[in-house]
Amino acid sequence: MSDRPLFITGATGALGRRLVRELVETTDRSLILLVRGRGGVSAADRVGKLLGPVVAGQIGSRVELLDGDVTRPGFGLSDADRALLRRRAVEFFHVAALTELNGGRQESEQINVGGTTEALRLAWDLLQEGSLERLFYFSTAYVAGSLRRYDAVEDALNPDPGHANNYEATKYEAERRVRGAMVEGLPVTIFRPSIVVGDSVSGEVTEFNVVYPFFKLYAHGIINLLPARPEDTFNVVPIDFVTAAVRAIAARPDSVGKTYHLVTDRPPTIGTLLTVKEVEFPRMAPITLVDPEEFERVDHDPLVAKIRHFIEPYLGYLRCKLTFDTANTRAALEGSGIPLPETDYRFLTRILQYAVDKNYLLA
Ligand SMILES: NC(=O)c1ccc[n+]([C@@H]2O[C@H](COP(=O)([O-])OP(=O)(O)OC[C@H]3O[C@@H](n4cnc5c(N)ncnc54)[C@H](OP(=O)(O)O)[C@@H]3O)[C@@H](O)[C@H]2O)c1
Repeated sequence: MSDRPLFITGATGALGRRLVRELVETTDRSLILLVRGRGGVSAADRVGKLLGPVVAGQIGSRVELLDGDVTRPGFGLSDADRALLRRRAVEFFHVAALTELNGGRQESEQINVGGTTEALRLAWDLLQEGSLERLFYFSTAYVAGSLRRYDAVEDALNPDPGHANNYEATKYEAERRVRGAMVEGLPVTIFRPSIVVGDSVSGEVTEFNVVYPFFKLYAHGIINLLPARPEDTFNVVPIDFVTAAVRAIAARPDSVGKTYHLVTDRPPTIGTLLTVKEVEFPRMAPITLVDPEEFERVDHDPLVAKIRHFIEPYLGYLRCKLTFDTANTRAALEGSGIPLPETDYRFLTRILQYAVDKNYLLA
């Protein structure tokens, strides 16, 4: 075995945790993780708590931790840490981001645009002065902008996106910079997942982030009007599909220079989601669908204004106006045994049931 150490940011997040655990469990590779200490808890203690004993047990052997912050120049790494990365890192996964859909402009810019700019600088340095061969960048399918109708193509960015929130806008700018570096010769592969939710079999997710807080607003009756039509679709993918596809695509030498939509090609409808809620979780608070155009018209109503304030960042996801080209993803996954995921009635039931079992959603 020749070790090909991986350098990973964002290992403490929902996707990063799962990816790192799978890499530890299914490969012999060494992992170098950029983790920040937070709230007085050291990086090592956070990894122990968040990634579990299998990963924590490898710290100091197969897993090395670098204390850093993606918003700082050079991620705030010491000279010794940079030397270690130059010597060892062969592949670099930049996963870290601010994923809150209602995140503020400044923080979203600092982490998503600034953090990616630092990742690109570091990648060039590791490529030119060290042993880096490839960078894998985690973008989002919603760089295309969720507000306007658009057929999103994998190997291009929407020239005229309608972004619904700072997350989409800053991930767009970050991907634009990554694509620029790609043109200049940096060997990059870009992943664009849609909305990542729980495991396809168990519903499990380590972090109830991104769309889960939106589910909560309705399940708990904080909001009851939903401006959508039953036939509207929303694109969600199970987390195990994303990590399996990432590992399979990353292993292919021909994925350099390409972008991959990690999405479902049969997204569920709002009607199916509401049926799941009514049949499987009858004790969740009731939801009333309102015609989206009607909802726009009654802007002056204080209740509607309040609801809009809460749900505005999410609206584009509920009434998905985007279609996603998956030619690259299909070609890369052909024969891998990893199909594009089913996101049907049973799947929606599973992910909601897991959130209920963990007391995140009341039912
Ligand atoms: N989840 C989705 O639905 C989804 C969909 C499409 C694309 N993506 C993309 O996939 C990636 C991972 O998403 P996720 O859901 O795993 O996100 P997440 O759960 O919110 O985790 C974010 C990660 O980024 C790290 N991070 C944030 N700011 C940092 C900083 N200043 N310095 C160092 N690390 C920092 C966090 O570290 P701390 O623990 O220290 O805060 C955490 O590990 C992101 O690039 C996201 O845009 C996610």
